[in-house]
Amino acid sequence: MKVIIRNTQHEASVWAAHYIVSKMKAKAAETDKPFVLGLATGSTPVETYNELVRMYKAGEVSFKNVITFNMDEYVGLPESHPESYHSFMHKYFFDHVDVPAGNIHILNGNAPDLQKECDEYEKKIAATEGFDLFLGGVGEDGHLAFNEPFSSLVSRTRVMTLTYDTRVVNSRFFDNDVNKVPKQAMSVGVATVLGSKEVLILAFGGKKARAVQMAVEGPYTHYVTLSALQAHPAGTIVADDLAAGEIKVNTYRYFKAIEAAENEK
Ligand code: GLP
Repeated sequence: MKVIIRNTQHEASVWAAHYIVSKMKAKAAETDKPFVLGLATGSTPVETYNELVRMYKAGEVSFKNVITFNMDEYVGLPESHPESYHSFMHKYFFDHVDVPAGNIHILNGNAPDLQKECDEYEKKIAATEGFDLFLGGVGEDGHLAFNEPFSSLVSRTRVMTLTYDTRVVNSRFFDNDVNKVPKQAMSVGVATVLGSKEVLILAFGGKKARAVQMAVEGPYTHYVTLSALQAHPAGTIVADDLAAGEIKVNTYRYFKAIEAAENEK
């Protein structure tokens, strides 16, 4: 695992966007095959999407040969609801770039058979050559996508019951009314994300400091599903200074030194 630390959320977000584009370009230089990109919602990735959109509008990148799969979606929320992850993705990303509509995949939280929808999602992922990069965030309790504490670390896409804590945290998007937050969501599994060649997790602000500390320095455990990243060959957490605030000073220095050494190469 690597941890990239930047002073501010903005710097970290821009770093992540440029990193994603560099990976897309590296693949395009080698093959015509599409770049398969896993995407996340939440407040965390917004500035990264802003930078990707800026780069697209500046003619620095095209998403025409990109296939996307989103991590999760609420169950029972109409797609048109402003807080559905469908709405979010169109508002912050898809409406502003050239990803072909047919290349966009988001779980349907209103499917008549939810588990069938999840199984078909996994089949669509399997029909690609696999994720090149999965961009994610982390919950305050260390959850990855909607894989709440004690989710199986070998899980695949399925329906999840949200914890009360997560619903309280997400109630800020629902008039601060926890009763308006859906009780269930569909989410890619931990193994779905870890099947990606690379995983890039963004974590910003002091509220994420405990999650980052547990995932980086704590044990590999289903209690903190992001800790599964420890078993991935190319997992990176991109944190701002606040989110890195609970790791040991020596851990902080270690990752700074590794990055400096790699930049010298
Ligand atoms: C939700 C999402 C996660 C996201 C987390 C953090 O639970 N399912 O994918 O990482 O929220 O959200 P935010 O970025 O708003 O802090």
